Amino acid sequence: MKYRTIFAVMLASLLLAGCHSAPKQEEKITLKDALKDKFLIGVAINTDQAAGRDTASVRVIVENFNAVVAENCMKSEVIHPEEDRYDFILADQFVDFGERNDMYITGHTLIWHSQLSPWFCVDEEGNNVSPEVLKERMQNHIHTIVGRYKGRIKGWDVMNEAIEDDGSYRQSKFYQILGEEYIPLAFQYAHEADPDAELYYNDYSMAHPEKREGVVRLVNQLKERGLRIDAVGIQGHLQKDFPTLEEFEKSMLAFAETGVKVMITELDMTALPSPFRNVGAEVSANFEYTQEIDPYPHGLPAEMDKAWNDRMNDFFKLFLKHADIITRVTVWGVADEDSWRNYWPVEGRTDYPLLFDRDHQPKPVVNMIIEEATK
Ligand code: G3I
Repeated sequence: MKYRTIFAVMLASLLLAGCHSAPKQEEKITLKDALKDKFLIGVAINTDQAAGRDTASVRVIVENFNAVVAENCMKSEVIHPEEDRYDFILADQFVDFGERNDMYITGHTLIWHSQLSPWFCVDEEGNNVSPEVLKERMQNHIHTIVGRYKGRIKGWDVMNEAIEDDGSYRQSKFYQILGEEYIPLAFQYAHEADPDAELYYNDYSMAHPEKREGVVRLVNQLKERGLRIDAVGIQGHLQKDFPTLEEFEKSMLAFAETGVKVMITELDMTALPSPFRNVGAEVSANFEYTQEIDPYPHGLPAEMDKAWNDRMNDFFKLFLKHADIITRVTVWGVADEDSWRNYWPVEGRTDYPLLFDRDHQPKPVVNMIIEEATK
């Protein structure tokens, strides 16, 4: 009897469900769904996120993005702290995270003058090593790291920030010792270690006309020598009024014209006043904290918030317009609280540079992008 009653109740509910089908839960289109036929949508993640400790961010990452890059843990000072010692713990965690979540994984960055291991370019007395020694160190560094993640990391920022805003070569230690030759060498070593990996040149302030020309010259030189370079990464560290969309677009088109793809690799936009115009992303820039340049510690005023969302949306419209040349757009951090902008170029400010707010909620621009991409 008891079973007959249960059966009757189940049957009744099934019939009812059939007659009045319950209202379908509205399907949520996320960023990565909306952009899936356009370009990869990536995010830089930190070590708390890669290790799964920051669960609120992990939820946002997994729901919205299909590509990841390590914000810091593959820089030489972290991954190769001493000449005879590599430390792969954090990098392994990062790659595991990307694989577990079926994401396109980018390695950042093989050769960069900044966050460089102190031993890399000098001998025990602190003098520059010879060109031969530096070549050997670069080769070991690149072969070891790229080799370890062969077939797993799909693309590498081989060279980061080697060109100055005026288009000349940055006078880094690498340049002082090897001249401009260190750049093709880095691309050669990376290709030797994983012939299938994509290889990129990555830099900031790319909308400066002189820098644009310098990078075009560099890419052409690499191609003339038959070296593999798949894309130029335009770091999108934007300000409220710089650069203009027009100059940014010119750079995208100029790079594509050389025959490589374009990626927007480090997208964020400060909402704060800049203490210094056009400072790009020069890591060494550092200005003293004053309250006038930290005006919104408790939230952006509505009109500033709207202006920020509109301008970020305009950039995404530009990326969508040129989806044929863009393979990936990557934001430089998950939610506002994670961003390096909170401590650069002034320590201790409250900035609002990313697509998700401090409560890990999407900003209005996220829906604007989804609508634009799916209309
Ligand atoms: O975690 C502490 C934070 O609590 C503290 O307030 C802050 C004060 O300085 O330091 C933080 O540690 C910082 C660390 O990143 C972890 O976030 C270091 O000081 C800082 O030197 C380091 O900054 C990183 C920077 O590269 C230098 O490696 C940023 O996170 C990272 O976003 C930034 O990324 C670079 C790209 O690799 C290349 N392009 C430019 C881009 C922005 O500078």
